[in-house]
Amino acid sequence: MRDELLSPEPAPDDLVVELTDEGGLRPRSLEEFVGQAELKEHLTIILEAARRRGQAADHLLFAGPPGLGKTTLAGIVAAELGVGLHITSGPALERAGDLAAILTRLDEGDVLFIDEIHRLSRAVEEVLYPAMEDFQLDIVLGKGPAARSLRLDLPRFTLVGATTRTGLITGPLRDRFGLVARLDYYTAADLEAIVVRAAGILGVDADADGAAEIARRARGTPRIANRLLRRVRDFAEVRAHGAVDRTTAREGLALFGVDDLGLDKVDRAILSALCGRFGGGPVGLSTLGISVGEPTETVEDVYEPFLIQQGLLMRTPRGRVATPAAWAHLGLVAPPSAPLAAADGPPSLFE
Ligand SMILES: Nc1ncnc2c1ncn2[C@@H]1O[C@H](COP(=O)(O)OP(=O)(O)OP(=O)(O)O)[C@@H](O)[C@H]1O
Ligand SMILES: [Mg+2]
Repeated sequence: MRDELLSPEPAPDDLVVELTDEGGLRPRSLEEFVGQAELKEHLTIILEAARRRGQAADHLLFAGPPGLGKTTLAGIVAAELGVGLHITSGPALERAGDLAAILTRLDEGDVLFIDEIHRLSRAVEEVLYPAMEDFQLDIVLGKGPAARSLRLDLPRFTLVGATTRTGLITGPLRDRFGLVARLDYYTAADLEAIVVRAAGILGVDADADGAAEIARRARGTPRIANRLLRRVRDFAEVRAHGAVDRTTAREGLALFGVDDLGLDKVDRAILSALCGRFGGGPVGLSTLGISVGEPTETVEDVYEPFLIQQGLLMRTPRGRVATPAAWAHLGLVAPPSAPLAAADGPPSLFE
């Protein structure tokens, strides 16, 4: 069984296959992009206005958990504007010169996409400010007292930034975006539309019930919906003549360790540790990460947001706490000593 089945990040070994697959599944226009209605409306207006003025669109920042469509939207922005797309990422831009090299290759109106923009170094960020604001690039030639600075005009371009961590974006950078948009987890209905669309593209014979079952367990995330569809397709081909209906979807998902709420092994490990080892909490995030063998950032970016959204986990000033729903989901009875248990549980004998 694959532990990373539900991880919104592409797994390294099937990265190549899935990236090409993912490439084919990526919506190429706003019209094809399912869900996120409010964001879509904002983008439609911004892009239409830019087109009418014949100017580059304002800089855009997309924030949200992995797999919700940030990279996809960057591609759509470039496609809708009919301009070139240049892709890089925060960690890839090590020195100011790396960014300067990219900026000087842009054509008028192009989109520059910087993924994981919260990981830009200070030095690179400083080059980015005048580029975003005044479309100017300051280059320092030489070193020491002989150093001269040179100012170059850049074409007007649109910067699209993506981040899983708005909290880590510095104020000055954030302020230079014309739109800061947060992507939310998708509704079951939107995910169902995404699964049906993907099944059509991949040539999978899935009926509405099968698609709904996959959608319901996809953790609100299109990338996971697409991945679960592929795994259920595999299961259906090997065990059930290829057709994906409710039964094959259920059996296939159960086989791959996806439970009824769509939680995977790591999600359940987090809840089990919280309830079992730490009596429901409160427990610090790093302790929780260590006890399930995941880096703190992964727990914070990938797992925790969905558990919070599902009402299974709460953040408190003293640490993470399991909700009554978490105990119930694990089939456990919360002891009276557990935080939040008193609200729903029976009163303690010693009160
Ligand atoms: N609104 C959508 N409609 C249909 N498919 C979508 C939508 N959003 C995302 N997808 C699908 O989900 C996959 C993942 O999306 P994408 O790579 O854009 O996520 P991301 O937010 O950039 O994730 P990460 O933070 O990991 O980079 C895409 O390949 C695409 O097939
Ligand atoms: Mg991405």
